[in-house]
Amino acid sequence: MDSLLTEIDHVAIAVFDLEAAIAWYADVFGATVEHREIVEADGVEEALLRVADSYVQLLTPTRDDSPVAKYLEKRGEGLHHVGYRVDDCAHALEVVKQSGSRVIDESPRPGSRGTTVAFIHPKGSFGTLIELVEVGG
Ligand code: CO
Repeated sequence: MDSLLTEIDHVAIAVFDLEAAIAWYADVFGATVEHREIVEADGVEEALLRVADSYVQLLTPTRDDSPVAKYLEKRGEGLHHVGYRVDDCAHALEVVKQSGSRVIDESPRPGSRGTTVAFIHPKGSFGTLIELVEVGG
């Protein structure tokens, strides 16, 4: 059986100071921002730094009640979630639900960059918040 996961789309890192994090990745690794976006629905601003066919996604909250703000408050800066690329987000989400694993999104929704995404609850996935990412065609 082929894996439903076709690529690591991004590794998301929660930070307090987006500009400082962007500057650090630029200074140390020479990595530059390819895309920047405020995702109002999630209360975050993100900066995507390309690494081969994947991204490092630096994430910072845009308001105090955003889930990322709460995460930073509780856990501090660091790895927030891993985004796995899938061909069909709705299908992959259905497979996850039928396996009995807990999901956060009951159905796929719009992500940044015109993607379609769904989150899987870390309680059912060995402690890692997972995002299924379908890249629009
Ligand atoms: Co993400």
